[in-house]
Amino acid sequence: MPCNIELRNICQSFQTNDTKVTLFEGLNLTISRGKSYAITGPSGAGKSSLLMLMSGLEEPTSGTGTYVNGEQTKPLPELRSDIGFIFQQFHLLPELTALNNVALPLKLRGDKNAVTKAKHWLEKVGLQHRFDHKPSQLSGGEQQRVAIARALVFEPKFIFADEPTGNLDQKSASEIADILFTCCQENNAGLVAVTHSEVLAERAQHRFSLAEGQLSTQETNILKVASC
Ligand SMILES: Nc1ncnc2c1ncn2[C@@H]1O[C@H](COP(=O)(O)OP(=O)(O)O)[C@@H](O)[C@H]1O
Ligand SMILES: [Mg+2]
Repeated sequence: MPCNIELRNICQSFQTNDTKVTLFEGLNLTISRGKSYAITGPSGAGKSSLLMLMSGLEEPTSGTGTYVNGEQTKPLPELRSDIGFIFQQFHLLPELTALNNVALPLKLRGDKNAVTKAKHWLEKVGLQHRFDHKPSQLSGGEQQRVAIARALVFEPKFIFADEPTGNLDQKSASEIADILFTCCQENNAGLVAVTHSEVLAERAQHRFSLAEGQLSTQETNILKVASC
């Protein structure tokens, strides 16, 4: 059964004062559940905007975005309950403990097992000894682990990560890449990561580069292709 995000002939442009900025035109892309994707490209190329479009959080100027789930085809904004987001700046709530940051999305959905599930996911990302710590008491890498646990706790079909290792040192970045790819794979979630990090990008099954409005496919290394 297919479970895809399909962007067809997408154009995105912004009109500010008297200038029109066109980020991309005629863009086509299919993202499948269970697969991993990396998008690289220079600052300002439109990578974050593309993530917002493919997650259905923003509408394109023209073109169509559809969510194909088995027999059903829906407009992309209906994907909202099936996606998780991870950002460079972590975006954790400073007043809440790690446990409550992860449990919150479930509590908001009325899940009675929110705390148990949150503990499970914090254990999965290696933070079983940090349940009661607030974000300010955690390192950058630990905060990003909390953010990953929070994004995956309700087992979304797709995870979007916008420069998830951008604020981390090399060692933490490599650990976060491991956790992100492993957790998404175990959960059969599609992963789309925007990144400047080669270490992160080369772990993805599919690589794209966005520059000057064009999305181009990049070769993944032969070993990776052979192992997929
Ligand atoms: N809502 C908006 N209105 C006007 N311009 C925007 C808007 N969103 C993004 N842009 C512009 O689009 C360009 C691409 O932004 P962005 O997607 O953040 O790029 P990247 O993530 O690749 O650095 C930037 O020049 C930005 O200023
Ligand atoms: Mg960006």
